[in-house]
Amino acid sequence: MSPEARASRLAGSGGRTRRRGYVILLAAVAATGGLLFGYDTGVISGALLFLRTEFHLGPTAQGIVTAIVLLGAVIGAGLSGTLADRFGRRAMLIVAAVLFAVGAVLTGFAPGLGLLVVGRLIVGFAIGVASYVTPLYISECAPARIRGALVSMSQLMITIGIVVAYLVDFAFAHPGGWRWMFGLAFVPAVLLGVGMLLLPDSPRSLLVRGREREARAVLARIQGPAVEARKVGEIEATLAREEASTWRDLFRPRLRPALVVGLGLAIFQQITGINTVIYYAPTILRFAGFGTDAAAILATAGVGLINVVMTVVAMLLLDRLGRRPLLLGGLAGMIATLVLLGLGFMLPPGHRGQLTMACLMVFVACFAISLGPIFWLLIAEIYPLKVRGRAMSLATLTNWLFNLIVALTFPALLHTLGATTTFWAYAAIGVAAWIFARRVVPETKGRSLEEIEASWHPQPA
Ligand code: BGC
Repeated sequence: MSPEARASRLAGSGGRTRRRGYVILLAAVAATGGLLFGYDTGVISGALLFLRTEFHLGPTAQGIVTAIVLLGAVIGAGLSGTLADRFGRRAMLIVAAVLFAVGAVLTGFAPGLGLLVVGRLIVGFAIGVASYVTPLYISECAPARIRGALVSMSQLMITIGIVVAYLVDFAFAHPGGWRWMFGLAFVPAVLLGVGMLLLPDSPRSLLVRGREREARAVLARIQGPAVEARKVGEIEATLAREEASTWRDLFRPRLRPALVVGLGLAIFQQITGINTVIYYAPTILRFAGFGTDAAAILATAGVGLINVVMTVVAMLLLDRLGRRPLLLGGLAGMIATLVLLGLGFMLPPGHRGQLTMACLMVFVACFAISLGPIFWLLIAEIYPLKVRGRAMSLATLTNWLFNLIVALTFPALLHTLGATTTFWAYAAIGVAAWIFARRVVPETKGRSLEEIEASWHPQPA
């Protein structure tokens, strides 16, 4: 029986609670894509220590092994946009799962550096695809009332993936242990693939491809038979307004405001410096004179945990307070802690370790309630259906590109400008991000995706 037929059979049988349970299940399975994203980007920090000695890697080779994943993500996010619109979200998540699994096996068993790099490139490609298809799929399945929380499950799983990676790195911190660190990603990859094989595609993705009967079945299962008829009508009316789309349509004047919001948030999410902490926290802490290597690594796990906890807080607040207040409040907190962080480095070495630690924790907490989840959430909400896959893939590609740029430039900036100037530069960018968010980011709380789409091109009365 196809997943859509199964959804149809179950549609009549459940009440509201059952429907909600089902949509949470869809979101949780798809969010395994987020877990893999977090795990596979976080795992390298620990693995690198052992790869360095086993393969005699110099600084350049280490940079390549680290950055190749980000490069793969740029390519994956860019190449799969059209495919997500043509073949649907579910198919792309299954493809990503297969690539994650292949990458895990290749990197886990790699006999030499060559295959290791190829494996990491494939993993990066899968991350690029999963990073935007996961929130896209969830947003198109979720009822408007709880969409913020459900889409943010993907960000929650990213943060959990990062912490799990730190812990696995810690558990396998012995020569040859890096094979386990990479190889263990095979398990969630299989869960994602099998889970998505059993679940249906999103109703909107089915309707775009003219599969109305299946779309109705899924909608009835998710939103109930009463809402189904109205929703299909709304989505079809929205589709009828849009002509067939190409990449060039993305740049039409009518779509420009949405494009600016998505690309702006993509860039600001990265260049306000979150991954200087996620990738380099132990380096920053040691630079600040913080205890020993072991203490710095443990403190980093603490930072990772705060990231998880505050993402849960964001999930609870997004559909109540709205996206804008959290975004503006969180950004203000990020700016304040970056300024303090810079100031802290002016103190004598003996005094700055604890302050630096506290700043990193508050900085990550503020990111976790604002730019972290809200970038991924908004790009899954603001684009018209016909171009949604492509538009999200462009925003995601941009996000990965700037992630790569920050990862490559941060050590050099720290070295040449010094810590104070570097963190103040990030603070200044944070101010620009705040002004940008205040001026152009729309509030999407409680509105259906069709209402949001209509708001970009108001109909004449
Ligand atoms: C960002 C990643 C970052 C992670 C940290 C995500 O939203 O896109 O670059 O590493 O959050 O939690």
